[in-house]
Amino acid sequence: MCGIVGYIGKEQSLPILLNGLKALEYRGYDSAGVAIGDKGTITIKKAVGQVKVLESSLATDHPIQGTIGIGHTRWATHGVPNELNAHPHSDCKGRIAVVHNGIIENYKELKTYLENHGHIFRSDTDTEIVPHLIEDFLNKRNNFDSALFDALKMIRGAYALVIMDAENPTTLYATKRSSPLVIGVGNNENFLASDPSALIGKTKDVIYLNDGEVATITSENISVVNIEQQKTSFEIVRLEWDLEQSQKGNFPHFMLKEIFEGPEVVRSTFRGRIKSEDNLVKLGGLDQVRDKLKDTKRILILACGTSYYAGLVGEYLFEEIAGIPTEVHFASEFRYREEPFDEGTIAIVISQSGETADTLAALHKAKEYGLMTLSVVNTVGSTIARESDAGVYNHAGPEIGVASTKSFLSQLTVLVMIAIYFSKDKSKTQLILEELEKIPEKIEKILAQSELLKKLAEKYNHYEHFLFLGRRYNYPVALEGALKLKEISYMHAEGYGAGEMKHGPIAMISPDFPTMAIVPHNSVSEKMMSNLEEIKARKGTLFAIATEGDTTIASLANDVFYIPKTIEPLEPLLTVVPLQLFAYYVGTQRGFDVDKPRNLAKSVTVE
Ligand code: G6P
Repeated sequence: MCGIVGYIGKEQSLPILLNGLKALEYRGYDSAGVAIGDKGTITIKKAVGQVKVLESSLATDHPIQGTIGIGHTRWATHGVPNELNAHPHSDCKGRIAVVHNGIIENYKELKTYLENHGHIFRSDTDTEIVPHLIEDFLNKRNNFDSALFDALKMIRGAYALVIMDAENPTTLYATKRSSPLVIGVGNNENFLASDPSALIGKTKDVIYLNDGEVATITSENISVVNIEQQKTSFEIVRLEWDLEQSQKGNFPHFMLKEIFEGPEVVRSTFRGRIKSEDNLVKLGGLDQVRDKLKDTKRILILACGTSYYAGLVGEYLFEEIAGIPTEVHFASEFRYREEPFDEGTIAIVISQSGETADTLAALHKAKEYGLMTLSVVNTVGSTIARESDAGVYNHAGPEIGVASTKSFLSQLTVLVMIAIYFSKDKSKTQLILEELEKIPEKIEKILAQSELLKKLAEKYNHYEHFLFLGRRYNYPVALEGALKLKEISYMHAEGYGAGEMKHGPIAMISPDFPTMAIVPHNSVSEKMMSNLEEIKARKGTLFAIATEGDTTIASLANDVFYIPKTIEPLEPLLTVVPLQLFAYYVGTQRGFDVDKPRNLAKSVTVE
């Protein structure tokens, strides 16, 4: 959730750390801080609020000099967002500085022990036990390395930690367990980040640390050992993301930029992977397990948030196109199930970041069951990508807006391709592939009408409630549309299967509780129309997403937004786009920072 950066090299570290923190701010933004080392001392500065508050407080102070430093942007778990709880945290003497993501589960007992041994704590955080614990070992035997390893052996939980020692001013220490951390490899300089997006523009070469590894990093050298201090090998991975992708360009917000990237994202997800003229899908990531997948009889999809809703669309796709029974589970709930799984069951985990703690835990659980695991992940080299047996990358490029938009389109595209990959009856798949190739152009047509959606958003932005209805493939889209609206505009929104509406939500219908109906012309549109009549009969306000050329809907709905026609399995790729734009416009019109919605974080690395 929180963001970590670190730098060691020849440059002044402060501007590098602040830029890195700004790039990571989408992960957490309650408070921020830096620790800079120079001539055997460490200076720590913190501020409550966004990184720009820290930056302006530093601008009024003397600039802090030093070519080694660490920084942090926080999403509070233990202790309210204030300056004392902001990272970096330090020991009693101010020799050690620590930034941390995750949760140290046994911090209470360690804190009691440390307080009984004279350590004075300044914050309510779990993190602060780390510098004090190292200090405690240092007090017994003045050897930093052994104090660090002794301390690490005592802490339990999920963490990414970067540590500085004033008396070792040329070294950064980094370690992780179930929380992501990458080392950016530079030329006579090295970087650390909890998310590779903080490294864009600095280096494309990264090392992903594995759980339990400890890296010792100087400007010229990186060495990695396990907790027993035995050397381990590491691989340098090349990232393909560029600077332009991680900047807003001419757009006022990342969210809008990313919605407008939709057509290109779908293209780049299927590029080189489909050949409609040969009715062929080629997914290189699955080749190595092709034989094992041949007998797949049942698919479990495990994910959270928007990725979960993409999974719900996947369920319809896999059952209709591949003929394989499929179930979708919230990753956070899957771990509590004690289900017997037959041979031939596989698990597909979906995660934009590849680091969501609950999804990772579900992946581990699937492995415990002995299931073959596939992943659909956007972030190359992320933990879920590395720990699954095989997978398909999204190729959506970095997504910075906290509310996922372009990743959803990319996930749907991958799921369509996987469904076709699994399909044994190829009679229908050629048409799907041909139609998939036309989707980007159709999304462009929707985006060209964004001004109309902006105007419609003005009409609806004062409501406090919204119901989203869809059926079949558009039922998950209704859930996603409602999620987008509540995340971004803080309007209460509920998504429902249209048929289920009369079993509860209909009680809420009134002119002040509008309904967004996703009703493209398809096999269930007549049934949808009956549900909309029921709403209209109760004086409900109706906003419909319908297919171009539909002449009946206008007489029923107060407002209609028309989208191009496509085949039913691909409809979500079109119907979700106006809902994303609608949420964006309502959120901005209500005056909110849509790229950093309150209380949310892009990558949820705590369970
Ligand atoms: C957070 C984000 C959502 C995202 C979800 C799952 O809640 O705010 O936008 O859908 O995590 O993230 P993942 O990276 O696993 O897809």
